[in-house]
Amino acid sequence: MLKFDFLVIGSGIAGLSYALKTASLGSVAVITKKRKSDSNTNYAQGGIAAVMSPTDSFEKHIADTLTTGCGLSHPDIVERIVKNGPACIEELISQGVQFSHEPQTKVEQLELSREGGHSERRVVHVADFTGREIEKALLERMHENANITLYENHIAVDLITVEATGGKQCIGVTCLDSRNHHARDFYAGSVLLATGGEGVVYKHTTNPPIATGDGVAMAYRAGASVSNMEFIQFHPTTLYHPVGNSFLISEAVRGEGALLLTRRGERFMHKYHAMAELAPRDAVARAIDAELKASGDLYVYLDMTHLGSEFIKVRFPQIYQTCLELGIDVTKERIPVVPAAHYCCGGVRTDPDGRTDIKSLFACGEVAMTGMHGANRLASNSLLEAIATARFAANVAEVVDISRFIDGVARTRRVNGVGERLKRKEQVLLEHDRSELLNLMWDYVGVVRSDYRLNRAQERVSILARDIDDYVRTRGLSYEATELRNLATCAKLIVDFALERKESRGLHYNNDHPETDDINWKRELTRKEGRWL
Ligand code: FAD
Ligand code: SIN
Repeated sequence: MLKFDFLVIGSGIAGLSYALKTASLGSVAVITKKRKSDSNTNYAQGGIAAVMSPTDSFEKHIADTLTTGCGLSHPDIVERIVKNGPACIEELISQGVQFSHEPQTKVEQLELSREGGHSERRVVHVADFTGREIEKALLERMHENANITLYENHIAVDLITVEATGGKQCIGVTCLDSRNHHARDFYAGSVLLATGGEGVVYKHTTNPPIATGDGVAMAYRAGASVSNMEFIQFHPTTLYHPVGNSFLISEAVRGEGALLLTRRGERFMHKYHAMAELAPRDAVARAIDAELKASGDLYVYLDMTHLGSEFIKVRFPQIYQTCLELGIDVTKERIPVVPAAHYCCGGVRTDPDGRTDIKSLFACGEVAMTGMHGANRLASNSLLEAIATARFAANVAEVVDISRFIDGVARTRRVNGVGERLKRKEQVLLEHDRSELLNLMWDYVGVVRSDYRLNRAQERVSILARDIDDYVRTRGLSYEATELRNLATCAKLIVDFALERKESRGLHYNNDHPETDDINWKRELTRKEGRWL
């Protein structure tokens, strides 16, 4: 039997940070669905927002976060996380992350960049590959820790829960070992969901293929509350290119002065927002969407040629190199860009310490809805939220004895046949369903929504979700079916939440309800077991 004190599902910043802390309390298993570094974290470019300069203040960072969150961020959570920022940066430095420093200063000083919605320079970064360096450092520390066992290529399929005093309790997870298609049950007194986001539910996304919303879907199936799913963040500037499609061009590029231009070479952002190119992301993505719809063009341009060749190569080496390999020299040419799905502000509802409403089930990072981001996330606040909440959750972590549950559960599950080789048949049906789902989310539930499109999406997503459930019931689960079932659950949640909110706020913009309605809708939507709470 695979039994640990702590089970961590996901090896991004949230999962690894938590695992490294709880390993001092007991044994830890980190389960991850592909290779250990396959995560959104690994792709983060811009950096981590934290108050690190004497001209900045917690009050300013809190105010910027609350303004961007459009009335739905929880001020107490925002304050707690923002005030933890400097300690999070120190922790990462102590774990071996070498952040970029200001050149030519006598005292060692972190280089701080600026991104949309920030009133100050406060984004700590490693050139334009911050996430890769964080992931590398955390994985190195994990490997040095004898109390942590890593399981790669294990996709968590469903949480194992029991009825306990005071309600449901999570005691483990059933996984599929994708190398041999065998199911395995892992048991633990505490389970952390750190499975990241669900950008892959959209045809065009900055997210890597692992981001299929597995954590949200598993928790929702198990009976946890899910909130704010209508608030999907579209990053305004991803590369428009037949091969390198959706490669992120960091917001930090605009922070350093890059400009958005129509294909005719005209600036347009000042028509939409006083902060022009440095407006929060929702405003920039909607402005680009409006320009594309008005002109019929397929992309706008991002122009950083005036920043200087040397500066670009040092500050944005990954963007420079990747674009060059695709035939665009960003020091001399404008970059064709379009918005793409990037981040989900909603997720599994948690308290300030990461507890979900299922006992012993915690959630941290992008999978969670802590109250930090509200209706829109301030740039570079998600790595901060992930590491800060992993610290909070680890602070309340304790070893829980579940031996009294395990015997009974293990017997029942043996009877149900878990552990048998699962069937993989008719994969082609799954591929068709997946492509239909991603296309319809992109076409009907995108940057700008309408009741008509959302209603169409709801009908079609419901049919697809039913088909996929039938497929799973009759043919069993495979890696692909597990992901698709979760994508369909997340798609359904996103559409249901978007249809329910009859106003426009933050990342949710509906042409049929274009105004923000503080009287009726300045509140979060939460769904649990098919009901609105
Ligand atoms: P992830 O890093 O996504 O990790 C999730 C882990 O869970 C992965 O290991 C995955 O394989 C695993 N997993 C998922 N499902 C399962 C399953 N069923 N079973 C087992 N394992 C599973 N944010 C910022 O603050 N600053 C930035 O500069 C920034 N840049 C970004 C750039 C890009 C291109 C992208 C895509 C995102 C960016 N973000 C940025 C957002 C940020 O990277 C993520 O929100 C953050 O990394 C999420 O961390 P996480 O630990 O919650 O999840
Ligand atoms: C970026 O570098 O533009 C991404 C930052 C983020 O998603 O917070």
